[in-house]
Amino acid sequence: MIGIYFSGTGNTKYCIEKFISIYDKKISAIPLEEAELAINEISSHDSLIIAYPIYYSNLPKTVRDFIIDNSHIWNGKKIFIIATMSLFSGDGAGVSARILKKYGATITGGLHIKMPDCICDVKALKRSLMQNTKLVERANNKLDIAAQKLRNGKPTQEGLSFFSHLAGLFGQRLWFFNKTRSYSDKLKIDKELCVRCGNCVMVCPMNNLSMPYEEPTVSNRCTMCYRCINQCPQKAITLLGKKVITQYTVEDFLKK
Ligand SMILES: Cc1cc2nc3c(=O)[nH]c(=O)nc-3n(C[C@H](O)[C@H](O)[C@H](O)COP(=O)(O)O)c2cc1C
Repeated sequence: MIGIYFSGTGNTKYCIEKFISIYDKKISAIPLEEAELAINEISSHDSLIIAYPIYYSNLPKTVRDFIIDNSHIWNGKKIFIIATMSLFSGDGAGVSARILKKYGATITGGLHIKMPDCICDVKALKRSLMQNTKLVERANNKLDIAAQKLRNGKPTQEGLSFFSHLAGLFGQRLWFFNKTRSYSDKLKIDKELCVRCGNCVMVCPMNNLSMPYEEPTVSNRCTMCYRCINQCPQKAITLLGKKVITQYTVEDFLKK
C-alpha cells in the first residue's frame, strides 16, 4: 500500500501521516507535488490511500487534474479516500471516488475528518485555540478508530452514498462549481507589507508567484490552497478576504 496526498496548509498531510502511523508504519505518504514519484509508486502498488482537502464541497483543482491527467494508472487499484474539511462536504470522499471508479478503481472506503479552517483571511468559521485543540483531538480519535477498522477489513464508508452525493451537490457544489474547475486570479500581495523574503515563491505548489527584480509578482495559476497566505511572515498575501486574521499549523493545536 502507498499513501498519496495534497495538502495546502498541512491538515491533510497531518491526517494521512497519523492514519498511516496507526494502520501500518511501513507505508509512505507522497505529496502530489512529487508527481513523477507518485505516479511510479501508484503504478507499482495495488492498494492506495488518497487524501485531500475539500474546497467548496469539491475536489481541489490540483487533485482533480492529477487524477484525470493520469487516468491510465487507476485501473484495478483498491483505494481508501480521506477528505479533510473545516465543517461540511457532503460527499467529500465521493467526489474523487466517482472519477476513480470511472477509470477502473475500486473504492474500499471513505473517511471525513474535520480540521481547523485554513482560510486565514476570512472571519467566518474561526474557532478559538481551545475549540481547535478539541477539534484536532476528535480528529485524532476518529483517525485512530478508522485505521483500526480498515485493518480489520471493515473500512468506514463516509461520503460515498447517494444521499451524501445529494448533500454535497445541493449543500455547496452547484453554486461554486467553477471555483474549483478554473484557476483563480484573485491572489493579492500588499507591496507595502511585503519584505521580498521569497517564501511565497518557494512554497507555492503551482509556481504561481515570482520575484523578478525583487518585485513580488502573481501569475494566474492559483488553485486556492492557501499555503502562501498561511505562511507569509508579513501577512501580506490575501485571496478571499482583505486582511489575514490568523495563521497556524496543526502543531499549534496539539496538546503538549
Ligand atoms: C478555497 C477553499 C474552500 C474550502 N471549502 C470548504 C468546504 O466547502 N467545506 C469545508 O468544510 N471546508 C472547506 N475548506 C476548508 C478546508 O477544506 C480545510 O481547512 C482543510 O482541512 C484544509 O486542508 P489542508 O491544510 O491540507 O490544505 C475550504 C478551504 C479552501 C482553501
